[in-house]
Amino acid sequence: MNLIPVQTFCSKAFTLFDEDWFLLTSGDFASGRFNTMTISWGSLGTLWNKPVAQVVVRPTRHTFSFLESFTDFSLCSFSREYRKALQFLGTRSGRDGDKIADVPITPIASDIIQSPVFSEANLIIECRKIYSDDLHAERFLDPSIAAQYPDRDFHRLYIGEVLQVKGEAAFRC
Ligand SMILES: Cc1cc2nc3c(=O)[nH]c(=O)nc-3n(C[C@H](O)[C@H](O)[C@H](O)COP(=O)(O)O)c2cc1C
Repeated sequence: MNLIPVQTFCSKAFTLFDEDWFLLTSGDFASGRFNTMTISWGSLGTLWNKPVAQVVVRPTRHTFSFLESFTDFSLCSFSREYRKALQFLGTRSGRDGDKIADVPITPIASDIIQSPVFSEANLIIECRKIYSDDLHAERFLDPSIAAQYPDRDFHRLYIGEVLQVKGEAAFRC
C-alpha cells in the first residue's frame, strides 16, 4: 500500500462512502482500547485550507465514546470480498463483545495516529479530529430529514484533518 498525496487522490465522490463504505475506527491500538463501525455517510473535501474528512456518528454507537475520548480516527475501505465483514461490523456493537475477532480483518498500528488501521484495507485515510458538533433539530431546513430521527438521536459531526492517505494504485490519478 503506497502513500497517496491528497492532491493526487482520486475516487468517485458520490460512491466512495455511499456504496463502498468505510470502517471508522477510533481509540488506542497500543492498549487495545479501540472500536470500529461501518459508515456510509460522510465526505472528503477542504475546510480551513486543510484536507478534511467529515463523518456523522449517532451517540448510541459504542464507537462514539471512543471518538469522544481520543484525538484521532481512521477510515478504512475494503474490496467487495470484505462486504460481509463490514455488514457484520455495521450491525453488531463492540459494546456486546469483541466483534472484530469474528471477522477476517486485522487491526494494525498506524505509523502516525493512535487509532488502528486494518491490514486488509485497500484505502486508509488517517485523521486528526479538529471539530465536532451535534446536528440540531431546529437547524434542519428540510423537515423530511428531521423526521428521520424519531428518537431524536441526532448524529454528531466530526471533522478530521486528513494527515495521510494510503491506498492501492486505483486511488491515485
Ligand atoms: C452500510 C452501513 C452504513 C452505516 N453508516 C453509519 C453512519 O454513517 N453513521 C452511524 O452512526 N452509523 C452507521 N451505521 C451503523 C453502525 O455501523 C452500527 O450501528 C454499528 O453496529 C455500531 O457499532 P458500535 O456500537 O460497535 O460502534 C451504518 C451501518 C451500515 C451497515
